[in-house]
Amino acid sequence: MRNVIESLEESKIREVANAGLGRDGVLPFWFGESDEVTPEFIRQEAIASLLAGDTFYSHNLGLPALREAVARYASRLHQPIDTARVAISAGGVNALMLACQTLLDAGDEVVVVTPVWPNLTAQPRIMGATLRCVSLRPDAQGAWRLDLDQLLQSVTPQTRMLVLNAPNNPTGWTLTRAEQEAILAHCRRTGTWILADEVYERLYYGHDTPNGCAPSFLDIASPQDRVIAVGSMSKSFLMTGWRVGWLVMPEGLSQQVGKLIEYNTSCSPVFIQKAAASALARTQEVTPQIVAHLRQCRDRLVNQLQSVPGVNVAAAPGGMYAFFQIAGHTDALLTAKRLVLEADLGLAPGNAFAPEGQGWLRWCFASRDLARLDEGVRRLKTWLDAQ
Ligand SMILES: Cc1ncc(COP(=O)(O)O)c(C=O)c1O
Repeated sequence: MRNVIESLEESKIREVANAGLGRDGVLPFWFGESDEVTPEFIRQEAIASLLAGDTFYSHNLGLPALREAVARYASRLHQPIDTARVAISAGGVNALMLACQTLLDAGDEVVVVTPVWPNLTAQPRIMGATLRCVSLRPDAQGAWRLDLDQLLQSVTPQTRMLVLNAPNNPTGWTLTRAEQEAILAHCRRTGTWILADEVYERLYYGHDTPNGCAPSFLDIASPQDRVIAVGSMSKSFLMTGWRVGWLVMPEGLSQQVGKLIEYNTSCSPVFIQKAAASALARTQEVTPQIVAHLRQCRDRLVNQLQSVPGVNVAAAPGGMYAFFQIAGHTDALLTAKRLVLEADLGLAPGNAFAPEGQGWLRWCFASRDLARLDEGVRRLKTWLDAQ
């Protein structure tokens, strides 16, 4: 067994969820997914594809029709993107792993902005890379901010890759266009690859971008830049369980990534790729409604949490999480476990995402029924009153 595998931590989110297993009536807000099922026309497309006999392998890089659909979709949101730059993966997580496998040798230095979804720190570690974490910091109102100078100082010619997830899981922090431009210019000088995890790009609540999306590196990078942007069907099409996502990469890299896909998954299932292509073509019927509903969820939850004495929370500009602190409750894992067992409320502990998340809790607000959020806050208040 490789030491690095043995030393991978079990997920602290799972630890809390396991504590709640078998408890009827727990309200689970711990995982990063909506409780709403995938739109019916997408499910019908997969059924039709299966009935038509689409049970065979596809090209490693994905069906041409889906690669084209992704290129069209990304080109509409950003700048023109050639289909040759797109590879289809088994979800965003597989796309991120493929990027790490393509670019990282053992001993390479990787800079990661944290707190962040734990997979983004585990994947470079699995490749044997050395991590340097640059921490976002919360302001007094509970909004997390980047110290751009600190980040730029941390990325040197020795840095092989910079990993950025914005909009961010768990904090909702989102890079501004000016920050992206400064980072891209700096990484061009140092020769550092940017791995941009943009799976939450559509889940953006600002009004300052023409396309309604969070600022993306695909808006500003040229096809030759050392930038890999990762996207996914999971969040903006309610397709978490389908496992389909993509990479957009510089010209010339796709062939290498295709080789790696052969050794990982060989390809994504064809009936799923067909359903994804039809979903992308009809995104206007799906995604704006999802985002409008998530905005309502965010506002409802954050307003209520802000009225709970001792809670510090800000409305995040992107993503699907409220990340908050409760005065006097400094051990996040303990608090999350107690909330499950004593209040039937399932939240994720902030220290699952980095040490600086200690004392914070993450609440996924992607709930079909807003009343579930109300009930969750009621349970939290009742529990706090009893302390
Ligand atoms: C930051 C981030 N990146 C990537 C993913 C991957 O999502 P998927 O593999 O479902 O596309 C997730 C899922 O929660 C995430 O939070």
